[in-house]
Amino acid sequence: MRYLILSDIHSNREALSAVLSFVQRKRWDKAVFLGDLVGYGANPNQTVDLVRQLKPLAAIRGNHDKVCSGIEDGELFNRVALEAAMWTRRKLTRTNLKWLRSLPEGPAVVDGAFAISHGTPIDEDASIFGEIEALNVFRQTSFPVCFFGHSHFPVIFGLSPDAITTVLTVAPAFRFKLKPGVRYLINPGSIGQPRDGNPLASFAIYNDKSKYVTIYRIPYRVYETQQKILRAGLPRPLADRLALGR
Ligand SMILES: [Fe+2]
Repeated sequence: MRYLILSDIHSNREALSAVLSFVQRKRWDKAVFLGDLVGYGANPNQTVDLVRQLKPLAAIRGNHDKVCSGIEDGELFNRVALEAAMWTRRKLTRTNLKWLRSLPEGPAVVDGAFAISHGTPIDEDASIFGEIEALNVFRQTSFPVCFFGHSHFPVIFGLSPDAITTVLTVAPAFRFKLKPGVRYLINPGSIGQPRDGNPLASFAIYNDKSKYVTIYRIPYRVYETQQKILRAGLPRPLADRLALGR
């Protein structure tokens, strides 16, 4: 099976549409979503509608999905994130609000092939930024492969019997073959708000038979997304950061 792995879309319709039109030319069998469909951007309903149309789909919730749909109050959010979440909560249709509230908490196992989580498989709200966090997760779990999101940059952590290695991807289409005997934690990057200094939308396709994962970076109409954010009255830093990728 070829899995289309999507994460951290954050109501960015232009970025998601660019990814979905790009993958029309690719083969994929199932979409997998790692959470944070909404929050920050100006098109929450349009992005929820687009993801709901993906079939088949395996999806889990992110921390922003919880706050935007009213499952949590966002007391840990900074001012900008909370303001965007409350704006999103007011804009979501009743149907989309209900759909977001029904997203399951991670971790989940997809087709017995790999695990998925938003933050970490232990805590959906926790982050994996570097090898120490990755090592702690590897030690407390047993999955061979887990895709995760939340940190908004593409990265592959591999744990062999001897050492942990980090692959930070830079190429616009980075192809990597998973090795036998090595466990992996893989972030496909963020579609709607990349934070690795590269503003291009980031996502992955994983073939569980060939064991190749490819992380793609795709351009989209950033200026249009920024203008929508400003016109909606959302905080300006949410628009500014999109051009910088941080
Ligand atoms: Fe996120």
